[in-house]
Amino acid sequence: MLIRRTTDILPSEITPRAVYLSRRQWMAGAAGLTLAAALPKGPEAAPLSAAKSPFSTDEKKTSREDVTSYNNYYEFGTGKEDPAAKAGSLKNSPWTVKVDGMVGKPAEFAIEDLIKSSALEERIYRMRCVEGWSMVIPWVGFPLADLVKRVEPLGSAKYVAFETAYRPEEMPGVQSMFPVLDWPYVEGLRLDEAMNPLAILAVGLYGETLPNQNGAPIRLVVPWKYGFKGIKSITRISFVDKQPETSWNKQAPSEYGFYANVNPSVDHPRWSQATERRIGEGGLFVKRRPTLMFNGYAEQVASLYAGMDLRKLY
Ligand code: MTE
Repeated sequence: MLIRRTTDILPSEITPRAVYLSRRQWMAGAAGLTLAAALPKGPEAAPLSAAKSPFSTDEKKTSREDVTSYNNYYEFGTGKEDPAAKAGSLKNSPWTVKVDGMVGKPAEFAIEDLIKSSALEERIYRMRCVEGWSMVIPWVGFPLADLVKRVEPLGSAKYVAFETAYRPEEMPGVQSMFPVLDWPYVEGLRLDEAMNPLAILAVGLYGETLPNQNGAPIRLVVPWKYGFKGIKSITRISFVDKQPETSWNKQAPSEYGFYANVNPSVDHPRWSQATERRIGEGGLFVKRRPTLMFNGYAEQVASLYAGMDLRKLY
């Protein structure tokens, strides 16, 4: 999908999204529509204490530097370095998350109350981007299932829809005359996926509150799915009875599905998903590692998809 410097792109990572986007990015840049200069820095990170989790991997963590400087957050531009440079303009306090739709107890949570009332855990997860690179990130968060239970979904609720903040005045990428996506960024899960213990709402990484570029103050992490499911800076979570629209699926339905489960045997229409480049392991010519089914989390999640044709429901 996403754009990066030409020197940073592997042949297998030159995606239709990259080609499509580079044209748009050029047009947006040419039109002088970004607020690149003089944007405020994000708020200071605050420490978070969190319990260890048996779901964490003991693989080598990607450095904090890489996790916080090589990002995808198109509301702030399509370059990997844009979010770190520009996302400081997003005011993440005060912040509320509205939970509504088919629930017995709709609510609007102030982010600090949500954090205080949740049992935070460190979850060190692999993250596999659909573009063919991966990281190992020590998130701090709480199970999405905990929030789901608090609002008491009705029997009619089958899916959970998520929405990112829509703040053109704070998001240079959203102001572009040539928008890359339909804003706000939206994502969704089936309710049983949302209840899986691996799915978390992350509020921090590396033991501190999330940097803006990683989706402060709260974002979704579903480690068995491609990274684009991990919607950032969530303001609304709605329980619905129909499969919700998702941003990249709306943009290119034949390339990005609703499920987006990591699957080395189902290639993207224009590149292989069999291998990946672990960020921080060296330059472009480093040996790629094999991609694992469900990103290595098959034991916990494969049963969710029993009987489904994962070639069709990609
Ligand atoms: N959420 C929003 N709102 N906007 C985005 O552009 N990019 C997605 C996802 N969440 C994105 C988003 C993609 S493509 C990826 S790979 C991950 O965020 C990247 O998360 P990271 O920058 O914290 O590594």
